[in-house]
Amino acid sequence: MPGVVIVGSQWGDEGKGKATDQLGDRVDFCVRYSGGNNAGHTLVVNGETYALHLLPSGILNPSAIPVIGNGVVVDLGVLFEEIDGLAARGVDTSRFLISTNAHIITSYHKVIDKVTERFLGKRRIGTTGRGIGPAYSDKINRLGIRIQDLFDESILRQKVAAALDQKNQLLVKVYNRRAVDPTQVADELLTYADRIAPHVADVALVLNTGLDEGKVVLFEGAQAHHLDVDHGTYPYVTSSNPIAGGACTGSGVGPTRIDRVIGIAKAYTTRVGEGPFPTEQINPDGEKLRADGHEFGTTTGRERRCGWFDGLVVRAATRANAFTDIFLTKLDVLTGWDRIPVCVAYDINGERVTEMPPSQSDLHHARPVYEYLDGWQEDITSARTFGDLPVQAQAYVRRLEELCGAQISGIGVGPDREQSVMIRDLL
Ligand code: GDP
Ligand code: IMO
Ligand code: MG
Repeated sequence: MPGVVIVGSQWGDEGKGKATDQLGDRVDFCVRYSGGNNAGHTLVVNGETYALHLLPSGILNPSAIPVIGNGVVVDLGVLFEEIDGLAARGVDTSRFLISTNAHIITSYHKVIDKVTERFLGKRRIGTTGRGIGPAYSDKINRLGIRIQDLFDESILRQKVAAALDQKNQLLVKVYNRRAVDPTQVADELLTYADRIAPHVADVALVLNTGLDEGKVVLFEGAQAHHLDVDHGTYPYVTSSNPIAGGACTGSGVGPTRIDRVIGIAKAYTTRVGEGPFPTEQINPDGEKLRADGHEFGTTTGRERRCGWFDGLVVRAATRANAFTDIFLTKLDVLTGWDRIPVCVAYDINGERVTEMPPSQSDLHHARPVYEYLDGWQEDITSARTFGDLPVQAQAYVRRLEELCGAQISGIGVGPDREQSVMIRDLL
């Protein structure tokens, strides 16, 4: 079972990091294939908490080689900060590999991310401000700077100057900001060249060779299906393809080599930033979910918007990602409710629909139709088998499974690596 992809099925922060970490020492390569340090993956290992933004969670597992694929946008300052932070805690970071083709987030991408959000005002996306959108825009505009450019100073300087040509006009004339000095940017980028050099690799070659040898390659998604630039709630999305197909374009591994796609679904729903969210609870229920689930962003510290589980949202993700399995997380957070609403349909202008509408305007008008499932009061954090769960929790999982359209193979009952109920092996 060598090629496995982990994908968020909602709007991010489902617990992808924990699910990845849990597959542990059976993984030979752990690959990030999209996004950048807009991601925040929190893992708890033996009571110690680690927050990763750029490195794949496999970094915490000594037998896996952590890989950053070409589809990732990389802020080198953040990358080395993360490496230094982990090294100071005794984690071996020497093995990581990064694609020659990964694009670099420069200082001007971060400036542009912030000023465009400010300029949009009420229409802002609520980005993480990490320069993600502007870096991907440059990639698509063919004005991006790649890791390999760090090793050809003359080319690097030309490319930075070309990328800044138009941007400086915009910054000065439209946004009323100071122009960015291309020499300063190139000088700063060059300071990273020697340090990154030993890690730079032909990632497509490394991973395909590994797969030829029967190694297990785990692709760790960042963000989620509904934040995908093509399939998400556009324009309230990120600028990359977090879906399972993105694992192929973002790493150079073909689709026939992917054997399993695991959707990660939170037992309720959260979202950070702007955009439609039909089951959102802006009331004491939402506040209770936020407090019980510690729903504050790993990356920006923002409060996560909270609401009930939405079967239509996860089922749309099951379809486009062809989930073979679902790992349901944070079931323990729902302990203590008398009854738990679950969204089974939307009412859109008086019409009941059971799939997410393809039109964004319709989604903005969608009113959730709930089914009410019995809650449970018992602490479930030490459950390790499905039978350990109270019958109401078992029924909740079974109903979600029907709604999701894919088998639930694992259940998270706490943040720690050990706190899971496995129904079926994920590898
Ligand atoms: P990711 O971005 O998908 O990796 O998710 P985040 O790390 O941003 O957010 C998930 C949060 O929930 C983290 O703080 C995890 O430690 C925590 N977590 C993951 N799984 C579980 C679970 O089953 N139960 C509880 N209580 N917390 C969990
Ligand atoms: P993980 O991997 C939750 C959201 C931002 C914003 C939108 C666009 O931890 O699940 P961007 O900075 O990417 O241009 O912001 O996407 N967003 C996330 N929300 N979890 C994430 O990552 C996210 N990455 C981006 O809040 O709404
Ligand atoms: Mg997160």
